[in-house]
Amino acid sequence: MGREVEAMPFLVRGMYFSGTGTTEKIVTAVAEVLARTEENFFRNPDIDFTPPAARKKTYRFGPQDVVVFGVPVIAGRVPNVLLPFLDTLEGNGAIAVPIVLYGNRNFDDALIELRNILQEHGFHTVAAAAFIGEHSFSKVLAAGRPDEADIDVAADFAKAVAAKINAYAADAAGEDQPLDEALEKILAEAGPVPVDGEQPLRPYYKPQDRQGNHINILKVKPKLDETKCTGCGICVQVCPMGSIKWDRPYVKVDGICIKCCGCEKKCPEGAFYFDDPGYLYHKEELELGYPERKEPKLFV
Ligand SMILES: Cc1cc2nc3c(=O)[nH]c(=O)nc-3n(C[C@H](O)[C@H](O)[C@H](O)COP(=O)(O)O)c2cc1C
Ligand code: SF4
Ligand code: SF4
Repeated sequence: MGREVEAMPFLVRGMYFSGTGTTEKIVTAVAEVLARTEENFFRNPDIDFTPPAARKKTYRFGPQDVVVFGVPVIAGRVPNVLLPFLDTLEGNGAIAVPIVLYGNRNFDDALIELRNILQEHGFHTVAAAAFIGEHSFSKVLAAGRPDEADIDVAADFAKAVAAKINAYAADAAGEDQPLDEALEKILAEAGPVPVDGEQPLRPYYKPQDRQGNHINILKVKPKLDETKCTGCGICVQVCPMGSIKWDRPYVKVDGICIKCCGCEKKCPEGAFYFDDPGYLYHKEELELGYPERKEPKLFV
């Protein structure tokens, strides 16, 4: 005799790193709809691991958790500064939905890399997606995305994911063994969700000029126009690397910069700017090279 599927509650939460907020927007949209689509799904608080302090904690999950897990694409891959933190995750049989946000160029191997990381840390990936967000470097490339159409796609995706999870739960209810053990077995047999990307993973994407020479922007940092800065401190709070420090009455960028552009886009006075010629050239090449609208890619 099968048991009631409703007996298996799932706790849905978003978990994301998001310098300019595009990843946060999609992850929370998916988590919201997922949690209210089926009666046995409940909403748990999200985990924002953008602030450095949030990456000092260890996050442990269990078989009842459904984690909508998002990161932005950096150089075609999962941001490498996050790898030590991601290595501390403990899925313990939780369900995960890996999601990457990319700036209309390409997500290359970021989604397959994120999926693999989650699988290796004890999560079962049942669905995945790549969405488009306004490019960190630009206000033109994928401007304003994710937009309403993207949020609609995210909602449909969430509904499909909920149905898929409950189909697994229904199969588990038909097994002659404790529900969580049956589900664990079924999810393990189903294996990781197939996604686009190559294995072995390709190297990090390297920007090039028109002659094919590598443009190295690794050491580039934003500069501050002190005539605009009011010393409000927002940038000190938002920098995911903790690299914006007080230099009263202003601030200074002092430390590793991943060029997430959170400080530049969130400063209310527009006081940050980039003037590195290689960076500006690359930004313009991206804007010129990828003008057509790309659409989200879903793997359910
Ligand atoms: C250093 C850096 C490298 C990036 N590399 C890529 C890339 O390879 N492909 C792409 O399409 N977008 C790339 N982007 C754009 C981001 O993936 C995109 O804007 C994303 O929406 C940002 O997410 P966030 O708002 O959560 O920070 C890059 C952004 C940064 C900061
Ligand atoms: S957010 Fe802008 S105005 Fe506020 S302290 Fe930072 S640079 Fe200055
Ligand atoms: S200093 Fe660099 S890492 Fe920090 S918020 Fe600004 S662009 Fe992002």
